[in-house]
Amino acid sequence: MSPSDDATRRAGAILTVDLGAIAANWRGLRDAGRASAAGGRQVDCAAVLKADAYGCGAGIVGPRLAAEGCRQFFVAHLEEGIALRKAMPEHPIYVLNGLLANTDADFVEHDLTPVLNHLGQLNAWRAAAQRFNRPLDAVIHIDTGMHRLGFSPDESQVLINERGRLRGLRLALLMSHLVASEEPNNTINVEQLSRFRSFVKAMPGAPTSLANSSGIFLGPDYHFDLLRPGAALYGINPLPGRDNPMLPVVTLQARILQTRQIDAFQTVGYGGAWRSARPSRVATIALGYADGYFRILINRTHVHLAGHRVPVIGRISMDLVTIDVTEVPEPLCETGALVEVLGRHMTADDLADHARTNAYEVMTALGRRYARVYADEPAGEPQNEPENAA
Ligand SMILES: Cc1ncc(COP(=O)(O)O)c(C=O)c1O
Repeated sequence: MSPSDDATRRAGAILTVDLGAIAANWRGLRDAGRASAAGGRQVDCAAVLKADAYGCGAGIVGPRLAAEGCRQFFVAHLEEGIALRKAMPEHPIYVLNGLLANTDADFVEHDLTPVLNHLGQLNAWRAAAQRFNRPLDAVIHIDTGMHRLGFSPDESQVLINERGRLRGLRLALLMSHLVASEEPNNTINVEQLSRFRSFVKAMPGAPTSLANSSGIFLGPDYHFDLLRPGAALYGINPLPGRDNPMLPVVTLQARILQTRQIDAFQTVGYGGAWRSARPSRVATIALGYADGYFRILINRTHVHLAGHRVPVIGRISMDLVTIDVTEVPEPLCETGALVEVLGRHMTADDLADHARTNAYEVMTALGRRYARVYADEPAGEPQNEPENAA
């Protein structure tokens, strides 16, 4: 989609998603898995597309990654799986939140695989296999320490002792999820690894998966048969506090709607939460908390305008944000000029720091009102400068 399209012309804010960068990030993680494969063992790399591919658009990211060679996909909700199936008719789609009551026929109809999180779900899915009179694929998720979803240690033991409980099902994957993979020195990682290893040893034959994005960087011991990255595909740093090895994926630009000169000692926005210390120029840009620009960002972050760092001032409104452009040459602040909210100067990880949250929340909150542009440039090339960049 080109920036001259109607949607971008009309839009107050434009989100550009670099599909080439997502594909390159996926290839990099896949190659990390391949490098760790030994003795003829294959390590495959899936893609986690839940929450609309972390705000990037699952229906577009999924097929792009499938074209790149990705063969297995994860979503959280059944509805996400149903929507994704329309975009990707062939590949396995695993639904992490599991099998809710009275949904087995939906899973079968849309050829989706539930991640079974407890014995009750396993029994229901086995009953569905009997009713539909055909083997059904299943993923078993065991809880190795998260204490959130998954077979408890007791239930896992039942499964090990009573393999007949899997009759009529094809075990597509045994998986578990790491608690603190972004903290390489946290001992919970090795504890979970050891519990997962014991379980898969007792259940030989099925493919296995443990590592999310950061887990992949814990090393080959954590790779098993299938990597399960989400965040890193979308450019979120899997190594907090260290250089980000992933390519940036999103650029968010918002338009200046109006600029005004104000005197010293004037307030800006609701509640008068910012006051000018000198005569100032204030620009108002077209996004707000309804678009995922969090209210907590009041007086504590900045945007970029033609390479100038510009403070965000005053309360974040539902649809508007005010910025102090006093230091920016006036011709650059004209109505319609694009301000970089997220991009090479301000990553989702940076904005998350300012908002006291994590980049996952920044990305999954990305607004539905943005015009979306999907770029697909060759990997590693510099991203486009905003239209009005210096
Ligand atoms: C079970 C499971 N696997 C994999 C992922 C992907 O994790 P990340 O986005 O940290 O790569 C998630 C996301 O939270 C998850 O819940």
